[in-house]
Amino acid sequence: MTVSVVVGTRPEIIKMAPVYFALRKARLRPVLLHSGQHYDYEMSQKFFDELGLPEPDAFLGIGSGRPGKQTADAIDKFEQEFANSSPDCVLVEGDTNTVLGGAIAAMKVGVLLGHVEAGLRSYDLRMPEELNRRLADHASNYLFAPTHDSVRILKGENVWGKVFRTGNTVIDATMRYMPKAERKSSIINRIGVDEFALATFHRAENVDDPAILRSIVDVLMNSPVPMVLPLHPRTDARLREESLKKTVEQSDNVVLLPPVGYFDMLALMKKSAFIITDSGGIQEEATSPAVRKRVFVMRKSTERPEAVRAGYCKVVGTNSEPVLRALRLYTKNPKTPALPSPYGKGDAGERIASLLKKNI
Ligand code: UD1
Ligand code: UDP
Repeated sequence: MTVSVVVGTRPEIIKMAPVYFALRKARLRPVLLHSGQHYDYEMSQKFFDELGLPEPDAFLGIGSGRPGKQTADAIDKFEQEFANSSPDCVLVEGDTNTVLGGAIAAMKVGVLLGHVEAGLRSYDLRMPEELNRRLADHASNYLFAPTHDSVRILKGENVWGKVFRTGNTVIDATMRYMPKAERKSSIINRIGVDEFALATFHRAENVDDPAILRSIVDVLMNSPVPMVLPLHPRTDARLREESLKKTVEQSDNVVLLPPVGYFDMLALMKKSAFIITDSGGIQEEATSPAVRKRVFVMRKSTERPEAVRAGYCKVVGTNSEPVLRALRLYTKNPKTPALPSPYGKGDAGERIASLLKKNI
């Protein structure tokens, strides 16, 4: 049985790696397809190298661009690819434009579609991801929902496909790669600060809004603990456009890095005093037994409420004053969360492979 495994951006590569290896172990034939939405070495190929993934079987080169055009290009290229290769099933992961493009193309060609990480909802319609994930869920034959919450949401929306609870494959990734990260990463010796918080920002509704971007810069510069900031290319572009890049570069409170690979990222997460982010995946990773870290989510909402309830994540909004207050309060009395991860035990990839084998 041939399964087309669709990736396009950094988090999809990380979260699909455990699925890819589990499919191979289950003696299914995974075919790795890369849309090309992320293309810089450090946003894409670096993860293939570190995670031990083979070169993609096809690289579709959709690149960057207006969201509608990027999605349309993904539909067009995936449609041709699925029509030529006739896979038994297509798997997409998450909520990017690549996912929506892959999902629509699979539907048009009439190939079975599975959605990994189905059923997440922020109910924040400013987010392009909210639209992508809803549409992908309603196009799917198989919905691999990470938690009880996501299963309940999907059943409440009366999706057509079959819903399974599997955990999130990012927990598999953290557990599989943390030992390697501890052996191979030297980033902690290179950042030049002993105590630090890890920061990442890239959500369009945050960094494309100049007022929120300024608020983020304010938090970085005034945080009670120095911030290590691996910079996403979207954020890099916005900081330059708003003439804020130099301010961040020159701040004694910020260690600015290019986007880092997965081994360095795991090492930074593990060693940090806390994390502040608007990332989706990092909220989940923080709950992994391999990481266990407090995360301040600098957003107005989250589609990961389980991580909040388990005591790992706190949604602190996007105004710098209350965010800084929350950071100061935490640094006076830091506590490592202890509850089990709501995203499973690290076997989500294997569960997905075995469910596919039984159900297709
Ligand atoms: C995308 C996803 C987002 C996901 C994120 C993961 C959508 C709508 N958004 O956001 O859900 O959280 O990936 O990181 O699909 N760029 C480069 N080099 C690259 C890739 C991008 O320089 O390799 C720059 C380009 O200027 C581009 C911008 O980053 O216009 C944004 O890239 P894009 O893929 O459109 O969205 P992301 O912000 O990366
Ligand atoms: N990540 C990484 N290097 C970085 C920033 C993030 O390896 O410089 C990893 C992070 O650990 C997580 C994934 O990339 O596994 C999250 O990607 P991102 O935040 O870009 O997207 P999101 O999860 O918000 O869709």
